[in-house]
Amino acid sequence: MGRAKITIVGAGNVGATTAHWCAAGELGDIVLLDIPQTEDMPKGKALDLMEASPVMGFDSNVTGTTSYEDTVDSDIVVITAGLPRKPGMSRDDLLATNAKIVTSVTTAVKETSPDAILIVVSNPLDAMVQQALRVSGFPPARVVGQAGVLDTARYRTFLAIELGVSVEDVSALLMGGHGDTMVPMPSCTAVGGIPIRRLLNEERLAEIVQRTRDGGAEIVGLLKTGSAYYAPAAATAQMVEAIVRDKKRVIPCAAYCEQEYSVGGYYVGVPVVLGTGGVERIIELELDAQEQSDFQTSVEHVKSLVSTMADLLQAE
Ligand code: LAC
Repeated sequence: MGRAKITIVGAGNVGATTAHWCAAGELGDIVLLDIPQTEDMPKGKALDLMEASPVMGFDSNVTGTTSYEDTVDSDIVVITAGLPRKPGMSRDDLLATNAKIVTSVTTAVKETSPDAILIVVSNPLDAMVQQALRVSGFPPARVVGQAGVLDTARYRTFLAIELGVSVEDVSALLMGGHGDTMVPMPSCTAVGGIPIRRLLNEERLAEIVQRTRDGGAEIVGLLKTGSAYYAPAAATAQMVEAIVRDKKRVIPCAAYCEQEYSVGGYYVGVPVVLGTGGVERIIELELDAQEQSDFQTSVEHVKSLVSTMADLLQAE
């Protein structure tokens, strides 16, 4: 592709910060869209961001809009629209409201950018990306959810802090849904190539795994008025980069798994190869007994979320 056109739907904290990271990385030209009721707000954020470019030295056009006409023929559409969590809420509490929002966004995107790759970020993630697939009718390779990069980033951060080492040298994998049942994978975690279990005892590792599972809630509890956005946005920008630069990154994403891992047609976090074609490949690992059972629990949770969503939408 020439210069990529990247539309970000939702100009709230996650959307605007994703625009920021994408612009700073010169990943393409960016259109930041929000609903008409927000009036000129997306234009204001976009112009402000673009005015940073001479200082920061990036060359991306950033425009704000409330009209899908300005997003026509985007290469990538990032969907961040929806309500964020408040303290005491789980991601699942957002189900009914955000399912409607994601439905209307996807309906518009399908008409205006029929060849785009969709990256869904709205929560509860695994159900929202399933809805985007259903409404768009796009091939599953072009509809992917952001969760695993964020959750893995939290896990890597906590491990780096614990061990007093650079985050750059902590590599890890995390699978399952983006919820309390997510499955960090110590067997696929290493520091400078050294398996984590050689550096950390099981008890401490289990505590870090639990902190990772609670990572989103920890930020909500501190912010009080909303949920995390720097790390979710950075994670999303990494996925955008993998696609526009065809990097074939091996990262965990919410991908549509049919026979893979015997999931049977749901979105769940798995390691994928992400490139210009979107989800170009799902990597299937052999899981040990504990991992398999944790993964299964997570898949069951995703299934029940999707079925509750279907009931709620039906009741409309
Ligand atoms: C989090 C929310 C955004 O994990 O899902 O921070």
